[in-house]
Amino acid sequence: MERLDKLLSSTGRWSRKEVHALLKAGRATVDGICVKDPAGKYGPESELCVDGQRINRESFVYLMLNKPSGLISSTEDPREETVLDLLPAQYKKMGLFPVGRLDKDTEGLLLLTNDGPLAHHLLSPRHHIEKVYFVKVGGELTVADVLAFSGGITLKDGTLCQKAGLKILEPPDTGLVSLQEGKYHQVKRMMATRGKPVLYLKRLKMGSVELDPMLRTGQWRPLTEEEKMRLTGTGR
Ligand code: URA
Repeated sequence: MERLDKLLSSTGRWSRKEVHALLKAGRATVDGICVKDPAGKYGPESELCVDGQRINRESFVYLMLNKPSGLISSTEDPREETVLDLLPAQYKKMGLFPVGRLDKDTEGLLLLTNDGPLAHHLLSPRHHIEKVYFVKVGGELTVADVLAFSGGITLKDGTLCQKAGLKILEPPDTGLVSLQEGKYHQVKRMMATRGKPVLYLKRLKMGSVELDPMLRTGQWRPLTEEEKMRLTGTGR
């Protein structure tokens, strides 16, 4: 059950203030009955209409952003610019939030949605959703690093990491790291145990969704129907 004002504003068509005004004006009905109370709570079975038009409650939004360095992965912050600042204002109204966090200086694939259950699924360690990062380090990556990653690294504070993939690229100070978990600063801390500071980090993949190579840093686009289908398993 959700408050009527939240249900209507999460469609992105009206701000909370506009919702209150339209309710006051008697423009909304629930199951055919005019409703003016913004705090009334309704479940998915209720039919909401504004000006006689049915409101689509399944209007979840899914975006991919090629995050630039310098922005924080939050919805708002009193001092810092956030990834939400890159999107048109309508998305803030729709309750979009980033699925997990990338560090301020990390670039690449960041999914944004207002689908809480999906975000929870993607972030839950139980579901082993793979994340792939391109990394550039100080020094050269070696076979010993690959073996250490595949054996499960113990971080300097004693935290155990699951087995992870490391593929050395050319030049050998670059590589691909694949993780099935998302600990704080994980790639940087794993590389630190190998004495290789991370100089550049970019996420390329999360679960079934790959960063669109056509998206320049700072650009975003909605997920395609196929990407949504693969991600949610339902095509919603
Ligand atoms: N690992 C890191 O160290 N930082 C990120 O932003 C993501 C993974």
